[in-house]
Amino acid sequence: MTARDEQSPSPIRLADYRPPAWTVSQIELEFDLGIDSTEVRSRLHLRRDPAQHVPLRLDGEGLELIAITLDGQPLDAHAYRYQDEVLEVEGASDDSVLETRVRVRPAANTALEGLYLSGSREQGFLLTQCEAEGFRHVTFFPDRPDVLARYSVTLRADRARFPVLLAGGNPAGAGELPDGRHWARFVDPYPKPSYLFALVAGRLEKIERGYRTADGRDVKLVIWAEPDVIDCCGYAMDALERAMRWDERAYGRNFDLDVFHVVATHDFNMGAMENKGLNIFNAKYLLADPDTTTDDEYRGVEAVIGHEYFHNWSGNRVTCRDWFQLSLKEGLTVFREQQFSADMNSAPLKRIDDVALLRRAQFPEDAGPLAHPVRPSQYSEINNFYTATVYEKGAELVRMLAGRLGSEGFRRGMDLYFDRNDGRAATLEDFLAALGSANGIDLSPYLAWYAQAGTPQLSAAGRYDAATRSYTLTLRQHTPATPGQPDKRALPIPVKLALFGPDGRMLPLHDGAAEQVVVLEQDEQSFVFPGIEHAPVPSLLRGFSAPVILDYAYAPAELALLLTHDTDGFNRWEAAQQLAWRAYAELRDGSGHEALSVWGDTLAGLFDQDGLDPALLADLLTPPGEVELAERETDVDPARIHALRQALQRELAARIGAHVLAGRYRTLEAQASDALDAASQAQRRLRRRVLELLVLLDAAKAQALAAAQFDRAATMTDRLAALAVLVRSGAPQAAEALERYRTRHAGNALALDKWFAVQAQIPGEPALARVRTLQANPKFTLKNPNRVQALLGTWARGNPSGFHRVDGEGYRFLAARLAELDALNPQVAARLATAFNGWQRLEPARREQARAAVAELAGRRLSRNLAEIVGNMLKG
Ligand code: ARG
Ligand code: ZN
Repeated sequence: MTARDEQSPSPIRLADYRPPAWTVSQIELEFDLGIDSTEVRSRLHLRRDPAQHVPLRLDGEGLELIAITLDGQPLDAHAYRYQDEVLEVEGASDDSVLETRVRVRPAANTALEGLYLSGSREQGFLLTQCEAEGFRHVTFFPDRPDVLARYSVTLRADRARFPVLLAGGNPAGAGELPDGRHWARFVDPYPKPSYLFALVAGRLEKIERGYRTADGRDVKLVIWAEPDVIDCCGYAMDALERAMRWDERAYGRNFDLDVFHVVATHDFNMGAMENKGLNIFNAKYLLADPDTTTDDEYRGVEAVIGHEYFHNWSGNRVTCRDWFQLSLKEGLTVFREQQFSADMNSAPLKRIDDVALLRRAQFPEDAGPLAHPVRPSQYSEINNFYTATVYEKGAELVRMLAGRLGSEGFRRGMDLYFDRNDGRAATLEDFLAALGSANGIDLSPYLAWYAQAGTPQLSAAGRYDAATRSYTLTLRQHTPATPGQPDKRALPIPVKLALFGPDGRMLPLHDGAAEQVVVLEQDEQSFVFPGIEHAPVPSLLRGFSAPVILDYAYAPAELALLLTHDTDGFNRWEAAQQLAWRAYAELRDGSGHEALSVWGDTLAGLFDQDGLDPALLADLLTPPGEVELAERETDVDPARIHALRQALQRELAARIGAHVLAGRYRTLEAQASDALDAASQAQRRLRRRVLELLVLLDAAKAQALAAAQFDRAATMTDRLAALAVLVRSGAPQAAEALERYRTRHAGNALALDKWFAVQAQIPGEPALARVRTLQANPKFTLKNPNRVQALLGTWARGNPSGFHRVDGEGYRFLAARLAELDALNPQVAARLATAFNGWQRLEPARREQARAAVAELAGRRLSRNLAEIVGNMLKG
């Protein structure tokens, strides 16, 4: 099998959707597993749609066909044809049984799609990844999500090499075979689409736990990992149990098989995969232990464990009709995951994290050449659409719907959605219809959100009439054009708001309520609030009630009031962000210090305030990142943005004062523990932030503190924070600390990833030389997606001043790596290539260098994945 697909010129379009002419009611699969060569027998029980008269066509990519029979008869060579990744068979009828035998080559599969080898030939194990279209790399099948079949899977392999044999569904027998071989069978009682098929085979160890579902089913939970990391699975097991309880409580959803398997692999293209009864995880989102896992990563494990588990209902029991509906399962499941994490941790901090991610990853996507609606209307390669727009913006749309219905109404709607669509392949229309009809509300206006790309800009203006004591809020919306969508329509935008008086107290609204939601449905509308006692400061878009960019001409003092007094934790943070924006603009434009002073002094005032969650304080003290700052500029110069942001933070640090910062650092240090509870995590988060600010004021002192922290750290969070401060500030202690880190964690792939990543974050020109050196390190390999992300992804997508060199060397270096990577793993190459997003807005020198590098890459023979990204990048 070759990883390099032919470039396909014609896109797949949503408008062309037709129900399948042929479906499969049942499939019996038999695998004779081997690392170099695996034989797959499949028996398909076919059903024909009597209304359609087309020959049987099955998807199959890179399959070596050994034998084929129809209804028990071997087929003549002229009765079938396998070309262009399609097997066409003549003479099939309703109820026919088609049997094929094919050979696939797992060890040669570097694309990590279909059946592949994780780890070494000697020790590694076999596994599959089938979403979106990997099953066609395993056997012939109508590989589309609206073909739901019952699966019976038999695995055979050498017992010594593959002692563990797993597939999705319930165990249905196992036994010995001659010659040291053995077999195991799994039958899944729930019809499922092919993308949810999975198998795993190899030398794995397990931890196990019994679980009784709310509806009384006894389930075995099993987590599998390679022997050296099996001790790092306990946290994931606890998180899984919490997720299962949570879904029972929050959505009334129970698990539905006898056993639930979870497997960790170090070789995985994405985060994790919800295969029915056999979830497979990137080790990064499953393994956790105090010595190598940061607090953020612990929360990542909990969230992804939840996410994949929640898919059992939102995705598996109710699946997607076609891949255009991807957000039906992903947006919904991200939303469910966010709710779960908010319930397990701090809800406002979770909301801040989620919105920061949306702004950092999705807003730039929506504003650039790769912009697409949450439900795209066409694609060339579906794997390119597992994007922040489909996932994160999709989750925001579900959140808006949930807000519109209220928690009880949303639950009613979800119950009806699951009820109506159980066992079906559904659409976003089905989702909105169920939510709406359970509540007697027409939600169809929200469909426009799914169809329209681009982030709406919402401008708000308030007018207070003292004579009538009424406040009028005028809202206006505008969505900029995106590729292929020049004209935009008005969307329903729910704006949750509250009004604050000059003393920082909330003003009751006329019905006595503290907050209210108004929905902007037209281009412009005004909303009148009677009985308001003072000219208010409005707290708008509370909790980020819609994924828009809000513009309101706050005076800095008004933002300070919200930052100090708003009762919505998210909006406090948002006020700090807005102030930081203005302060940044003042520094950039040399236009005074008003916002800078208000921002710095207000935060300095809050710095020692009792009762303020240290984690929230850490977030309040963090201005928008460099990617976000660049978003609002044209002629972007990332080096200048980096310098300005540093200057901005230095101003903040100066207003708090080196003495106060150092004092707080010492207090936090004295409280340091290795506990994982929220309070300990919050202390670590603030400690890091304080150190990062202090290093801008008094580098030598902060670096000495960081070096000491690195030495004594009891957690990876503290160790990595210290290391990052040393490395990024160019400290004299950095080299030795890096070396000690490397030695200490040499045997741990995930810890070593962080060693690569922390160095890829070195700001400015020196970054590239470091990346080049690290790329030549024997521990670096383009074959491992996590390593690629740690080094190249962190540098190109997360370190703008390091990547965007004015001489264009960064662009050429990345393009050369992309070409190499594309030959191995097109999915990972295509994702990494999105680092070029936004190149059109760079200042002219960089713009031309970037354009030339992308154009040069586009001229090569590329996978369909990379060709689509690069092609769109040049079109936009
Ligand atoms: N469904 C997986 C999730 O939970 C993502 C898998 C996508 N894989 C891929 N190759 N596109 O989000
Ligand atoms: Zn998902």
